[in-house]
Parts: sequence; structure tokens; C-alpha cells
Amino acid sequence: MIYFSLKYIMLLVIVVNECITKTVNDDNLQLKFVFILMRHMNRAPLIRYKNNTNNIVWAHGLGELTDQGIWNSYRVGQALRERYLGFLHPLQRYTPSEIDVSTTEVDRCYQTAGYLLAGMYPPNEEQTWNKDLKWQPIPIKTSLSKDHQKFSNDPRLCPKYAMELHEKCENIMKTENVKTFISYLKNHTSNPLTTTFEVLKLVDAIYTERMANYSIPNWAMERYQDFENFLLLCMTVLVETNQMKRLYSGEMLNDVLQRMEASIKKSSEAKKIYLHIGHDSTIVPFLKTLNIENITYPFYGASVIMELYATAANETILKLLYNRDYEWKDSKIELIELPGCPQPCRLEDWRTLTQQMIPRNLSDECKN
Ligand SMILES: *[C@@H]1O[C@H](CO)[C@@H](O)[C@H](O)[C@H]1NC(C)=O
Ligand SMILES: *[C@@H]1O[C@H](CO)[C@@H](O)[C@H](O)[C@H]1NC(C)=O
Ligand SMILES: *[C@@H]1O[C@H](CO)[C@@H](O)[C@H](O)[C@H]1NC(C)=O
Ligand SMILES: *[C@@H]1O[C@H](CO)[C@@H](O)[C@H](O)[C@H]1NC(C)=O
Ligand SMILES: *[C@@H]1O[C@H](CO)[C@@H](O)[C@H](O)[C@H]1NC(C)=O
Ligand SMILES: *[C@@H]1O[C@H](CO)[C@@H](O)[C@H](O)[C@H]1NC(C)=O
Repeated sequence: MIYFSLKYIMLLVIVVNECITKTVNDDNLQLKFVFILMRHMNRAPLIRYKNNTNNIVWAHGLGELTDQGIWNSYRVGQALRERYLGFLHPLQRYTPSEIDVSTTEVDRCYQTAGYLLAGMYPPNEEQTWNKDLKWQPIPIKTSLSKDHQKFSNDPRLCPKYAMELHEKCENIMKTENVKTFISYLKNHTSNPLTTTFEVLKLVDAIYTERMANYSIPNWAMERYQDFENFLLLCMTVLVETNQMKRLYSGEMLNDVLQRMEASIKKSSEAKKIYLHIGHDSTIVPFLKTLNIENITYPFYGASVIMELYATAANETILKLLYNRDYEWKDSKIELIELPGCPQPCRLEDWRTLTQQMIPRNLSDECKN
């Protein structure tokens, strides 16, 4: 009985969904605003670990973009220009009202933005100021960043958050899986591995070598999936509770909402695109804050994209897209259902849905 009624309800849901979908014909959607939250491109490891048998020279330094990261940033800029061709200025002219770009205060993020913008905004004929240089400076504003990735490194920035994170990290270190994983690592390196951050840096160093196509030792290759799982675990623990989500990602969510509203109201500060370059530790928490569950560890250049459209009926709807890596192929960009706001997700419904995640006064809420 229950089975049949459930099936019937499912059928109803599908039928109702189809009706709604039909009222929103994709051809009649007009793009109004785009938010792109991107992880920086390929970088070197953050540390050198002990007993590493690879002797790799990271020419640009630890933690910095690699040559591949530089080129990928540039190509992504070209791909974005292509993707939003009809939306951006028809003469490919940079104007301040077109885009806001922010990054964290980390060199690799800033430089990702710099190379990306070189690909996205080569000066058109009119804006060429030096015929030997197909480049013009586009503002990159770390001051606009609402990315609180620093909360996890510096407890003074948000004591309440830091306390909760500390507790969650200690819990991780006590789980059987992680204890076994760490003792396995200790069999192969004498790096200190007492905190999650120490383990994270080691795991990242090996993972990064592999991402840069170096061969990694057999012992690491055998447990490669554990490496990726541990990285993802370290990102999800950043927002394990609703309070952590609110403190860590709430301001960014609010910023995006306000920018969307500004664009609907055509207010003078509205921009067409807001691009923020952050980290794996920005992307995973942001997706978790939207209650998206099945997240995979974000590759370099992975992006969360939110596109705001006006419908023919003058409604405003929202699409969440996810691009797994730095290749902006349409076939690889997936539409993700916003939990609690099925397609077509109206902006006002999403606003209502997300209100509880937005801090009223962050510095106040950060107090212990
Ligand atoms: C670490 O090495 C010891 C000695 O070879 C071995 O008994 C143990 O099982 C290893 N630990 C893990 C987690 O592989
Ligand atoms: C790592 O190398 C040091 C010497 O540099 C050695 O003493 C130590 O036993 C090595 N650790 C492992 C786990 O192989
Ligand atoms: C690694 O190798 C793959 C496959 O050959 C290639 O597509 C990729 O660009 C390479 N990555 C780097 C960092 O060289
Ligand atoms: C989660 O899984 C669903 C169903 O397999 C898929 O449609 C969706 O794209 C996935 N979301 C992410 C963020 O990978
Ligand atoms: C659509 O809505 C906006 C904002 O509410 C309003 O300014 C605009 O005039 C409306 N356009 C049409 C065609 O109704
Ligand atoms: C936020 O809280 C702080 C600390 O309690 C206070 O100094 C500040 O004035 C508040 N800001 C606003 C906009 O209310």
C-alpha cells in the first residue's frame, strides 16, 4: 500500500514539476547576473615533507602557481569571455560596471585572477594603450572578499568559530579510520602528524605531486583514495554545524544575494559578474552551506556558478551550476538542484530559504 501511494506521489511530483518547467522556457530566459566562486589554479605543495623520494624543484616556490596554473588561469579567462559573449559588452570593452573581482590575500589566488583577466579582457582596439602589450590592468580587490578561509588559521578572527573547529578536528583525530591512516603515514614519513592541519599538509603535498603528473611512491599510490577522502574530510569539517556554516560562509552568501538584488533593481553599484577566487576551503563550505551533500574534492579551478535570469513573465530565477575543473566545457558543467528550491528556483524563495544562514552581525556572533 505504502509503496503504491509513494509511487503515486512521485508521479504527481514529476507531473507538477514538468508543468512548472514548461512555464520557464529556457529560450525566454534573460541572463541578469553571474556569480563565480573559483578555486585558484594548479599550485606547488605547501610544504616539503620528510622522506620524500622525489626531488622536485618547484620553480615558483611552495604554495605558488605552477606554469600549468598560470596557463590554465589565462585559458579560463578566454573561456569565460566565450561563455558570456552575448552578456558582456558587445565591443569586448572593459567597463567598471561589468565585473567585480575579488580574491583572498593569498598570492596564488590573486595571481590566478590576474592571469585570468589577461585572458578575459585583452584590450580591444580602442583600449589598446601599448601596441606591444595585449594587456590592460583590471582591478582585483581583496578588500571585497567575504571569504573567511582565514578563520581556520587564526583563532583571534572568530573565537567562537575557532573553538568549535578545534573540537571537531580533535574528534576527527580520534576516529579509527583516521588513526589507522595516520599510523600508515607514519610508517613512511617522519613528518610530525599530531594535528589535522599537519596531516592535511602532508597529504596535500603528495596529492599535489600526483596532480602535477609526478609519480608518487607505491605506498601512497596504494592508498590514493584515502588521500582524497582525507582532504575532503578536512574541508567538510570546516562547516560541520549550522553555526559554523553561518559564521564561515554566511557573509559570502549574503553578499551574493545583495548583488543579485542590486542587479534586479538596476542600482548604480550593480555589476554583471562577480568573480571570487578562493580555495578548496571556500568551495566545499559554500556548497555545504547550501545543503548540497554529495560533494567531491574540488580540483584546481573548480567553480560554483550562480546564474540569475529574468523570465518572460518577469520573474527572477536562479541556477546553480558546478564546474569540476578548469575546463569550461558545456558538457562538463552540471546543473545542481538547490536543496529546498527545485528548478525553477525563484530568487525570493531562495532568499527566504537562506536567511537562517546569514549572520546579522558577524563580529558580534564571533564573540565567545
Ligand atoms: C606500520 O608498520 C608496522 C611494521 O611494519 C606494521 O605492523 C603496521 O601494520 C603498519 N601500520 C599500518 C597502518 O599499515
Ligand atoms: C625518514 O628519514 C629519516 C632520516 O632522514 C630516518 O631517520 C627515518 O627513519 C625515516 N622515516 C621513515 C618513516 O622512513
Ligand atoms: C598530466 O597528464 C594528463 C594526461 O596526459 C594531462 O592531460 C595533464 O595536462 C597533465 N597535467 C600536468 C599538470 O602536467
Ligand atoms: C549529486 O548527485 C546528483 C545525483 O547523482 C547529481 O545530479 C548532482 O550533480 C551531484 N551533485 C554534485 C555537487 O556533485
Ligand atoms: C520587471 O520587474 C522589474 C523589477 O521589479 C521592473 O523594474 C520592470 O519594469 C519589469 N519589467 C516588465 C517588462 O514588466
Ligand atoms: C556589530 O557588533 C559589534 C561588536 O558587538 C559592534 O561594535 C558593531 O557596532 C555592530 N555593527 C552593527 C552594524 O551593528
